[in-house]
This record gives sequence, C-alpha cells and structure tokens, in this order.
Amino acid sequence: MKIAIINGPNLNLLGKRETDIYGNKPFEEYLKELQQKYPGVSFHYYQSNIEGELINELHRIGYEYDGIVLNPAGYTHTSVAIGDAIAAIKTPVIEVHISNVHAREDFRKISHVSGKSVGSIFGLGLKGYELAVEWFMKK
Ligand code: DQA
Repeated sequence: MKIAIINGPNLNLLGKRETDIYGNKPFEEYLKELQQKYPGVSFHYYQSNIEGELINELHRIGYEYDGIVLNPAGYTHTSVAIGDAIAAIKTPVIEVHISNVHAREDFRKISHVSGKSVGSIFGLGLKGYELAVEWFMKK
C-alpha cells in the first residue's frame, strides 16, 4: 500500500510555529512514528511552501498511489488551482487540518479542497493524518 502525505506552506515549521495551535512536534518526528505504526505502508512525504510545486507533486503522484493525505495549509482557503488538481488526478485525497479551521477566523471556513476530496478531517491534531491513513487501509 502506497500512501503520500503532502503538506503545504509553513508546515515545515511544525514544532516551532504557533505551538499553542499546532503543537510541539516536528512533522518528521511524527512521520517516523507513523512508519513504525504502519510497517505495511510505504509512505512518501512531500512539503512545499510553493503552490505550483504542490500542484506538480499532485500531478506526479496522482496516478500511482493508493491515497493522498493532503494538508494544503493556507492555500486551502485561496487555491482554486489545488482544488482543480485534486479533481484532475485519479488517486483519492483526504484533506487534513491540524487545527479546527471552523473554530478560527472566518476565512479559514472556506476550503477549495473539501469539495474535491473524499473526506476531510480537522481539529484532531496530528492524529488526523493517522486517521486518514487508516481510512485508506480499511477502504
Ligand atoms: C492548517 C489550517 C490553515 O488555516 C492554516 O493556514 C495552516 C494550517 C492546519 O493544519 O490546521 O497553515 O491547515
């Protein structure tokens, strides 16, 4: 089983960034825990702060993976193009947000990604990525 995790802008700073909202753990550390917990899954991880790079990566992997767990971060609320990329590819995408985007500023309630994804998880911290992986595994 091949699962890709794609993180958008500023998520390279997890562990240092607004820790009251996003927690103290760098994503690389969490990824190691995921790899240990799911030895049968081959994980691919990609992070970029650049919208076009995220789209290129979705195109590149969007035909060969069993699932994509995507946290587009700030681009969630602005990027029609990332939404279009999800619609264009074959691999199903689950949208994940660490924080509860519906309990924050109004602009975070808008997502160009939710309607193109098979489902969305928000507000459950890093655990959300794991829940998305489990959904793909049990599908
Ligand atoms: C986020 C929520 C977004 O609104 C924000 O811009 C992020 C992270 C989350 O995981 O909670 O950068 O996607």
